[in-house]
Amino acid sequence: MAILVTGADGYIGWPALLKLSREFPDERIVGVDNFARRRWVEEIGCVSAIPIHSMQERLEAAREAGHGNISFIEGDLTDRAFVQQIYATFRPRVVLHLAAQPSAPYSEINGERATYTQHNNVQSTSNLLWGLKEHNLIETVFVETTTTGVYGQPDFDIPEGFLEVERNGRKGSVIYPGMAGSWYHMSKCHDVNNLWLANAKWKLSVIDLRTAITYGTRTDETQGDPRLATRFDFDFYFGVVVNRFAAQALAGFPITVYGKGGLKRPMIGLQDAVDSIVSSAKREPNQKFDIFNQTSGPVGIQEIGEGIQTIGAEMGIPVQVDHLENPRVEKEEHQMVMENSRFMNELLPHPTVDIMDGLRDTLESLQPYRDTLLAYKDRFVPEQLLNRVSVA
Ligand SMILES: NC(=O)c1ccc[n+]([C@@H]2O[C@H](COP(=O)([O-])OP(=O)(O)OC[C@H]3O[C@@H](n4cnc5c(N)ncnc54)[C@H](O)[C@@H]3O)[C@@H](O)[C@H]2O)c1
Repeated sequence: MAILVTGADGYIGWPALLKLSREFPDERIVGVDNFARRRWVEEIGCVSAIPIHSMQERLEAAREAGHGNISFIEGDLTDRAFVQQIYATFRPRVVLHLAAQPSAPYSEINGERATYTQHNNVQSTSNLLWGLKEHNLIETVFVETTTTGVYGQPDFDIPEGFLEVERNGRKGSVIYPGMAGSWYHMSKCHDVNNLWLANAKWKLSVIDLRTAITYGTRTDETQGDPRLATRFDFDFYFGVVVNRFAAQALAGFPITVYGKGGLKRPMIGLQDAVDSIVSSAKREPNQKFDIFNQTSGPVGIQEIGEGIQTIGAEMGIPVQVDHLENPRVEKEEHQMVMENSRFMNELLPHPTVDIMDGLRDTLESLQPYRDTLLAYKDRFVPEQLLNRVSVA
């Protein structure tokens, strides 16, 4: 028996691979990646603040830590022949599809990056879905981490995937339409449509995890050996808001909250994201298209800034919170209320991370790499602040 993890070199994929290996010791855990994320970050002129090791070193450390059932294969999922070969060799019982170009700002640099992102993401998913059909693997459970971003910013509570519709006295449920706000997020809307079709036509069991902004630097399995660390990006393109704020604070710049900071966004800690991915690998095939909002709840942008300030004070690091005009097209005070009760009940009954833990973990793990942050300050500090180092 085997579990396939795509994007196994990534921020979420690497800790997921390690945890799966612990949870399913009698199965082969097969990771696949083409190392594109390492190249994208290099291309935009930055690095992972927490150093990450080569896959060979990662695997050696994993074996030494008792993960004896992991295999890794380098390859590009947009290459149909590669996907076919993986399926023919391993015939996985579960596919956990975490590979994608996941940055909205990167996808919006220019038309070439937009097309690249959509081709990379949609073609990879399509190859993986069709491969299951063509290898008679329709009993395989297919899990993808799409994104909460497919929902856009509606002014009503966001359901877990489906909308109830009533027209002229008749009722039904329809899949929530793709209303993404970036070319990256729209690639995931295309994926959702293809997942829906694979389920509708072939009865493939699909679990679509609408993954929220994921924060944190470590999980149980990535600690104890620096070679097991997962990546941590803090630049404009690949750093999520928590990462950029933490980097700004540690590098001695004010934290820059856009507008009044009233915006709230669904989020999830890395450990909880990994735990719920592992839970989905435990589910039996059910021929359904299951959608879960993979978030433990909303967090306010101002709350993150103030949280970093509080924890910074505990660690002896003075942190200033500044408000800047919002350059992004988003509704200033938008709360993005997202239903998540099915997700919490079925896939994350025991959440372990709250935002303050996540912020503390982030600041503590980043503190030794302050020099790296300073060396790349033009990659994450807004231009208006670059000449204003306020903290020694
Ligand atoms: N991290 C978040 O906050 C977040 C939020 C919402 C959704 N997601 C989704 O979760 C998944 C994992 O995200 P992440 O943050 O770990 O991203 P990541 O970039 O660190 O990991 C994705 C991995 O996929 C690999 N990859 C990309 N295209 C590939 C291809 N064609 N062939 C083989 N490998 C390929 C990359 O090299 C990378 O290692 C992605 O699908 C992302 O869209 C992440």
